[in-house]
Amino acid sequence: MTITLPPPPTWLHQVIIRNVTQADLIALEWEGEFQHFRRMYADIFEHARKGTSVLWLAELPEKGVIGQVFIQLNSNRPELADGVLRAYLYGFRIKPAYRGCGLGTQMMHIVEKDLVKRGFHYVTLNVGRDNPDARRLYERLGYTVIAAEPGIWSYIDDRGERRDVNEPAWRMQKQLRTT
Ligand SMILES: CC(C)(COP(=O)(O)OP(=O)(O)OC[C@H]1O[C@@H](n2cnc3c(N)ncnc32)[C@H](O)[C@@H]1OP(=O)(O)O)[C@@H](O)C(=O)NCCC(=O)NCCS
Repeated sequence: MTITLPPPPTWLHQVIIRNVTQADLIALEWEGEFQHFRRMYADIFEHARKGTSVLWLAELPEKGVIGQVFIQLNSNRPELADGVLRAYLYGFRIKPAYRGCGLGTQMMHIVEKDLVKRGFHYVTLNVGRDNPDARRLYERLGYTVIAAEPGIWSYIDDRGERRDVNEPAWRMQKQLRTT
């Protein structure tokens, strides 16, 4: 049976996928929806400056930032990221109007290629147990569930208040093709 896929939308060819600069930090708040992450973003940008994180965004000329994904190269949880072989992917999102057209897949390929160049062999990520659509995407890309994660963490929001998060998740991992 032959399956004919629709052609990719024209905007997809114009998207630029690149590293985040300091000037992009406000755009990562998505017109205020993620303003509560302001301090956390400033913090992870510092990690990127020091070379322990890699922050990616997708930009559409005239429209601005339409997607993002963050990579932590090391962490105090070596089962997630150990600075040498295993890196942790998080904060992955595409703006709703641009979802389901292949951009997320394209970003994942770029991120994985970059990690291979840096000598990493594994990517880990946590996907919400209530997010089967994203889990299916990761499985299609070669990730498998390897553990259950309680998903309890906290951060300080833009007003300096602590926010507790409770997002039970599955930890997934992929072995990168290094040859
Ligand atoms: C998950 C996400 C980053 C993927 O980006 P994308 O550009 O939509 O991905 P692609 O077009 O390459 O692939 C689409 C696949 O992602 C899945 N997907 C997951 N969440 C989706 C959503 N909210 N809208 C559309 N597709 C979604 C689709 O089901 C599709 O898989 P399928 O073909 O098996 O149905 C994006 O959909 C998104 O931002 N979702 C909301 C935030 C989120 O869930 N992030 C992941 C956290 S672990």
